[in-house]
Amino acid sequence: MPSTASSAAVSTVVVVGTGGTIAGVAERADDHVGYKAGQLGAQALVAVVPALAERTDLVIEAETLASLDSCDMDHGTWLALRERVSTLLARPEVAGVVVTHGTDTLEETAYFLHRTLELAAKPVVFTAAMRPATALSADGPQNLLDAVTLAARSGASGVLVAFAGRVYAGADLRKVHGYRVEAFDAGDAGPIGVMADGRLRRFRPWPEEPAHAAAAALPAAGAWPTVDIVTSHAGARGGVIDALVAAGARGLVIAGTGNGSVHRSLVEAARRAEAAGVVVRRASRCQLGGVVGTRPDALPSAGMLSAPQARIELLLDLIAAAR
Ligand code: SIN
Repeated sequence: MPSTASSAAVSTVVVVGTGGTIAGVAERADDHVGYKAGQLGAQALVAVVPALAERTDLVIEAETLASLDSCDMDHGTWLALRERVSTLLARPEVAGVVVTHGTDTLEETAYFLHRTLELAAKPVVFTAAMRPATALSADGPQNLLDAVTLAARSGASGVLVAFAGRVYAGADLRKVHGYRVEAFDAGDAGPIGVMADGRLRRFRPWPEEPAHAAAAALPAAGAWPTVDIVTSHAGARGGVIDALVAAGARGLVIAGTGNGSVHRSLVEAARRAEAAGVVVRRASRCQLGGVVGTRPDALPSAGMLSAPQARIELLLDLIAAAR
């Protein structure tokens, strides 16, 4: 399992694989789209980065927790990842954990761990790639090298993301492009720093750990309440919300237009849902920013959270309320 070990080693970084394009394989090296995500295990990802084998100051372990295209990410895998990372961080010699993940839902998994994992002042660094491992100029190996460097860095803490030369707080992350190698942004917060030639230039403090209200014991995924996201758009139909409530939704996040405005037919249906006991929150469908301020007659605001983040908060609130 360890890819490198040395008598001079002072700490361990564990790379936990969950799939994604970083572990993706295409038939041709010039194919960046028609590949299959999640084909390579974490050991294979580490093995193709010679600079990792040269780190005589580090033991690097690699293990594969899942092999998913992250569009298929699920609550059970979140719980398994949270438990595994928590166990790894509890080992005194482990300086930090790297999680390789698909870019598509990375921001959701990072936010879930940010909100529910006790980090013990250690870093959990997500990384990913926009090009499969078989691409002529795959971006995964450099991203992985940067992530391991960050995870081993003394003093680093929080749920972080190392991607395309930038370091983000997991809670600030938004995927803003479907194809470009520089696919992520952190909006007004900006990156925490940049990785340049193997060194971090940090612009601001490490993210603070939030209060982990729901951290204690999350129930098994099958017992989680159903929380869905509905997008507001021209011609939106309130019947969509009625159908979701009829299908068992206990919470709804409406991804509104602009600063969280919502089509009136959805507002009417959301009011019916609230009257039936469903908790509704209003976010923005814009890639960056959130909902600023509020109006007296508006549905409750999710503030600066993206719709997927607001969905996670609402899940945790409903789980806590059911205790
Ligand atoms: C995925 O999210 O698993 C596929 C897309 C990617 O990693 O870029």
